[in-house]
Amino acid sequence: MCGIVGITADHEALANAIDYLVNGLKRLEYRGYDSAGFGFIECRTGRLIVLKDKGKIDEVVEKYNVTSYCGVAGIAHTRWATHGAPNKANAHPHVDCSGKVAVVHNGIIKNFVELREFLEERGHVFKSDTDTEVIAHLFEEFLKTERDPFEAFKKTISMLEGAYAIVLLYADQPLRLYFARKVSPLIIGVGRGFNIVSSDIPSILPLTRNIIALRDDEYGYIEPYMVYIEYKGQKTSWRQRITTVTWSVEDAEKAGYPHFMLKEIMEQPRVLYETFTGLTSSNEVYDAARLINEADYVFVTGAGTSYHAGLVFAYYMSRLARTPVIPFISSEYKSYESLASEKAVLIAVSQSGETIDTLQALRAFKAKGARIIAVSNVIASTIPRESDSVVYTRAGPEIGVAATKTFLTQVLALTMMAMQLANMRGYISDGEYKDMVELLSRAGRVAGEGINASTREVERLVDALKKKHSIYVLGRGLGVPLAYEAALKIKEVSYIHAEAYPAGESKHGPIALIEKGFPVIFVGAEPGEDYLEMIQGNILEMKARGAFTIVVGHDAYTKLEGVDYAIGIGEQPVILAPYAIIPPLQLLAYKLAVSLGYDPDKPRNLAKTVTVE
Ligand code: F6R
Repeated sequence: MCGIVGITADHEALANAIDYLVNGLKRLEYRGYDSAGFGFIECRTGRLIVLKDKGKIDEVVEKYNVTSYCGVAGIAHTRWATHGAPNKANAHPHVDCSGKVAVVHNGIIKNFVELREFLEERGHVFKSDTDTEVIAHLFEEFLKTERDPFEAFKKTISMLEGAYAIVLLYADQPLRLYFARKVSPLIIGVGRGFNIVSSDIPSILPLTRNIIALRDDEYGYIEPYMVYIEYKGQKTSWRQRITTVTWSVEDAEKAGYPHFMLKEIMEQPRVLYETFTGLTSSNEVYDAARLINEADYVFVTGAGTSYHAGLVFAYYMSRLARTPVIPFISSEYKSYESLASEKAVLIAVSQSGETIDTLQALRAFKAKGARIIAVSNVIASTIPRESDSVVYTRAGPEIGVAATKTFLTQVLALTMMAMQLANMRGYISDGEYKDMVELLSRAGRVAGEGINASTREVERLVDALKKKHSIYVLGRGLGVPLAYEAALKIKEVSYIHAEAYPAGESKHGPIALIEKGFPVIFVGAEPGEDYLEMIQGNILEMKARGAFTIVVGHDAYTKLEGVDYAIGIGEQPVILAPYAIIPPLQLLAYKLAVSLGYDPDKPRNLAKTVTVE
């Protein structure tokens, strides 16, 4: 949801800040791509220059020949539009009347209408429809009365209501960048002779792996040799807060793949293995299971793909640990917060660790005394930081907007939690537990085999599906959350409408749409005969109405009567089924998008890390 980055550098450390700004911003493009812009202090003249327009970063960089400039310090922004159409005027950075102040912002300033009136009464002229522009003018206004620009900045942020990550550049202090964080994420990359402030880790990786995750309501400034952070008027010490991230710069690059989405699908065997080994050699899963064991009520929440992982968790908790779990979509937390108490535990699943809906659910539950367990992929992000216990997936940076590798690593981590609890509660013996862990150690291999074995069939299926307008994805048992995830992937990158239902539910309405050739994908995740028989019935019902029936699942499903097209995964124990079934479906979504001429890394209207409600 908007990516911002700023750098200030000593000439010795970095000859030209622009090259970094462009590179750093491109690494945040998954956060929005409606418009892009750069504001920097030009090396030769010391003047503030702003270059911005609608469109993707590369288009703006090329149009304004951005890399031909030299800058000592600068800020940049890639936008996911909230207030105002995605056009040039609304692109960030926004400047004040004097042309000396430039600001980039991620978030929403709720009281911007009143602030704008306040500023217009004082003669400020606005050039955009955005909420952000008030920040530049407020700073300009307070510079009239405050001799110290930092005081003017503090006064500025004290006027703002809402959510924000802000970076502000003031031409009279060319090597200083002011920043502030409330709700929207912001990190500092600490370097030698330079410092960076950014929305997310991938953008700082080319220059440093040392980060400070800013906390809510912190603000301050960076200079090439200085980081200064304040909280409520008090200077905070930050050196002991530096975290060194283990991700490498290559992790955040395409490594020869045409798209991040494909690279990240292909990385699944490795990252599943890394998540498995990371979790088996740490106490994270055990600590989380202990918290669950102490609770009377267990909730799991997340948005989108993370919610689907939560549904898989609820399934394994029921099956293995015989423990009921209440799953809810995080933006719906208000319907559930009355159930929160000291006796409850909430598992907040979030790849980014920053999704605002999930964060709000967490805070609402925490306020009522519930214990919180985060399942996240990003170290030091807000959701883990505000939780009592954290289970980290080790998927590395996920840049493709559609979540792929993080889903299966979440499933793996959550399954391990359910298994651990089942063992603690005596539902599975130590021996059974060990056997299950041994099985799960194969998750990565199973994913790799699933990818290799299905690639050709997936390609043929793409030809059959790419002209369709709508697809159903049906499953039973474990197949239901996997079907939800498959449908989400297909619709968000290929723009073909895809809808998932429990297969039995299809008779209660959805079947009305079936006509000749309507594609229905059945996810066969449950190995049992009973499930097989029920799905057989569903396939025949669809077939009788002319549907084009596809099965992705255990080999036994591929042999059912009435199946038109099948992708078999061999016979897997139910605990390994997700790793075999999901990769072919992710590949299907990816290949559909590419065959239809869409960029799967940047689906329209979407952005990764949703930090607005
Ligand atoms: C779908 C997708 C989104 C995210 C959702 C939650 O492919 O990527 O649905 O899963 O926005 O994001 P996190 O997990 O970062 O909280």
